[in-house]
Amino acid sequence: MILDKNDESSILRIAVLASGRGSNFEALCRGDTGNGKISLLITDNENADVLRRASELGVEAHYISPGRYRTKFGEAEDLEWTRLMMDRDIELVCLAGLMRIIKGSMLEEFRGRIMNIHPSLLPSFPGLHAQKQALDHGVRITGCTVHYVDASVDTGPIILQKAVHVKDDDTVETLSGRILQKEHTAYPEAVRLYCSGVLQLRDNA
Ligand code: GRF
Repeated sequence: MILDKNDESSILRIAVLASGRGSNFEALCRGDTGNGKISLLITDNENADVLRRASELGVEAHYISPGRYRTKFGEAEDLEWTRLMMDRDIELVCLAGLMRIIKGSMLEEFRGRIMNIHPSLLPSFPGLHAQKQALDHGVRITGCTVHYVDASVDTGPIILQKAVHVKDDDTVETLSGRILQKEHTAYPEAVRLYCSGVLQLRDNA
């Protein structure tokens, strides 16, 4: 069947939440996401490059203040982000470099419908600087993981992973670059799987 993404009844609307560069946002917009369509971007950083990409790609984009905390949303702001996504009939939320923990009303409303991409083979190397952690640990294989989001950091059920070999002369930059290339195929693929209805969350795994 050929899907017509202009036929509003067949599409699943997706929001991307991002804080920075936005290369995964762009990969999601340009990649094959089946009947999923990236229709909203929200950022907590008014200077983020992802806003420029959204304007070039013609995606509705908003900067909304995240509130007064550094790593989570304020209560009122959490509601504001959540309400905007509900107003736009968002089915799936994709975190792509969002530097905040999801809790409160956003997690409640979208539980089981929020994904994240992380630059390591989880459960190894969660949190910040995953590529440096991998190099410091001396692993020979690392990669990226797309997973569902739960109340902790980088712990939710895994959807898919792609492996990357570590080279003897890798630096954080070279390794991050090769992982990022894999991220750009992994994320659209995971979204496509979600949208096709084959993913099932059982006992939260
Ligand atoms: C990616 O490495 C992603 O795995 C991590 O944050 C980075 C975001 O990069 N969660 P970009 O903004 O998508 O270019």
